Amino acid sequence: MYSEKVMEHFSNPKNVGEIEDADGVGEVGNPTCGDMMNIYIKVKDGKLSDVKFKTFGCGAAIATSSMITELAKGKTIEEALEITRDDVAQSLDGLPPVKMHCSNLAADGLHAAIEDYKKKQGTD
Ligand code: FES
Repeated sequence: MYSEKVMEHFSNPKNVGEIEDADGVGEVGNPTCGDMMNIYIKVKDGKLSDVKFKTFGCGAAIATSSMITELAKGKTIEEALEITRDDVAQSLDGLPPVKMHCSNLAADGLHAAIEDYKKKQGTD
C-alpha cells in the first residue's frame, strides 16, 4: 500500500524536532483526522538554512513532514513557496488516495511557516 520511500521516511524521519529560535513557525491541523503538524524554519540570506518539524499524526503525515523538510532546505523563500502538495506526494512516489490529505498538511505547514516569517519581517 505504501511506497518504499514513504516507509523509509516514516521509519527514519529526517529533521525531527523544534527550532528554538525559529524565524517562522507554521502550525496546521486537519479537523477530520485531528492530526497536527508544526513546521519550523530558519532563514539566512533569503534561504531556508534549516527546517524541522513536529508532527502528531499518522505515518503518512510523518513521512510527508520529513520529505518536505528535505525538499525545502536550502531553497530560497520564493522556491519554497512553489513546493506544492503534489510535489510532496510525488517525491514519496505517491500516496494511497485516502492519504493524500496528509501530504496537503505538509505543504500547507511549510507555507504557513513562511507566511509567519514574512509577517515577522514586516514584508507581508
Ligand atoms: Fe490525518 Fe494522515 S490521517 S494527516
